[in-house]
Amino acid sequence: MGLTTGACFAHLGHVVVCVDNDLTRLEQIKSCAIPIYEVGLDHLVTESIAKNLLSFSSNPSEAVRDADFVFLCLPTPSGEDGKADVSAVIQVAAQIGSDLKGGSVVVNKSTVPVNSAAVVSQLINRPDVAVVSNPEFLREGSAVDDFLNPDRIVIGCIDESAGWRVAELYSSARCPVLLTDPVSAETIKYMANAFLAMKVSFVNEVASYCHVSGGDVLEVMRGLSLDPRIGARFLSPGPGWGGSCFPKDTVAIAASARSLGLDLGLVDQTIVSNRMHQGRVVQFIEEAVGSSVGIPQVSILGLAFKAGTNDTRESPAVALATRLFDRGYKVRAFDPVALAPANSGIEQVFSLEAALTDADVVVIATEWKEFGAITPDMFKMLMRRPVVVDLRHVLDARTLREVGIDVRVLGRQY
Ligand code: UDX
Repeated sequence: MGLTTGACFAHLGHVVVCVDNDLTRLEQIKSCAIPIYEVGLDHLVTESIAKNLLSFSSNPSEAVRDADFVFLCLPTPSGEDGKADVSAVIQVAAQIGSDLKGGSVVVNKSTVPVNSAAVVSQLINRPDVAVVSNPEFLREGSAVDDFLNPDRIVIGCIDESAGWRVAELYSSARCPVLLTDPVSAETIKYMANAFLAMKVSFVNEVASYCHVSGGDVLEVMRGLSLDPRIGARFLSPGPGWGGSCFPKDTVAIAASARSLGLDLGLVDQTIVSNRMHQGRVVQFIEEAVGSSVGIPQVSILGLAFKAGTNDTRESPAVALATRLFDRGYKVRAFDPVALAPANSGIEQVFSLEAALTDADVVVIATEWKEFGAITPDMFKMLMRRPVVVDLRHVLDARTLREVGIDVRVLGRQY
């Protein structure tokens, strides 16, 4: 998210230097070959480089020397006991302290455990430099739009004037700014992701309940979403939540609570519920495969953890494909941009036609729009038998069923 943040700030007119220790990556970006798939990002990078507002460096000390604001956008992967591994943040904070300009502000954008602003402040050890926490809420696939049109800006600070200076960097944003203390800001980020993961898990449990009770999950969700207290967003049933944030952040906040002597029952159960759901999805696919002669060929459409990205970290689509492979199925996968992990046993193909050909069952695991445009003829002519499990509700299941395609959706009765 560092590149998105840098390119978007440059787009807003600020002069930005992005620092990374991966030289190959830097060279790729400098020549506008963006290594991640993120809608609109390549355009912003190219535009900002051309306007001399965006440049790159591999030397943190040099890059921060003239900076008024230094954003830490460092990775905090899952570490010991699920707690966030903040070693990159610690290392960089310790490294740049003496190079910072007097009166500058260090802004922590990484998702970090509570009290990290205080830790960074100690490591920097500069009374003339303020440390501010400014969590990001960018979704992959719409990160640029989320940055430029945020629904809120959260700033945690002890020095309020430093906090407002950071808020002013987002001058074009028309949204509430919440100035609060650093611990609350850090907690907001984790709890937002935990709440959203819980909402998706709830929806997935409704789908499983409808599957056994005879209800229709989409009708039920429509009924629920009309209650403004529940709302319509984040109510799409799917193969389970994944990605680089929800899995890591739910585990991290639960581990952080435990280390403070508290069990977060709901967050713990959300993690369990997601795992159980993925098991039920495998079962649902196995029901669709039924009994067939020989080893069934299952084709998975989509590998990314959601549409709009090539990110397969903790992707439910990949988890699903791997579980099916481990259960003895031949598994083939197609994604418009994402690649199957190496040595996963998944055969990657590079066209929809290749994915559908001779498949016993097709599973739609990522909500790419083009999967919704597959015609009945393609299913009928290419597949061994036209059985499709639509985990993302991209197909017009009723119409396709009328013309002989056996479309199955968890939690919908036909
Ligand atoms: C998330 C947060 O939304 C973002 O604010 C934060 O900064 C980073 O983490 P992201 O990981 O990009 O963003 O994905 P998001 O769109 O939140 O989806 C997370 C997972 O939930 C995906 O696997 C997605 O497919 C799933 N999901 C989401 C559903 O299954 N149904 C929904 O209705 C919404």
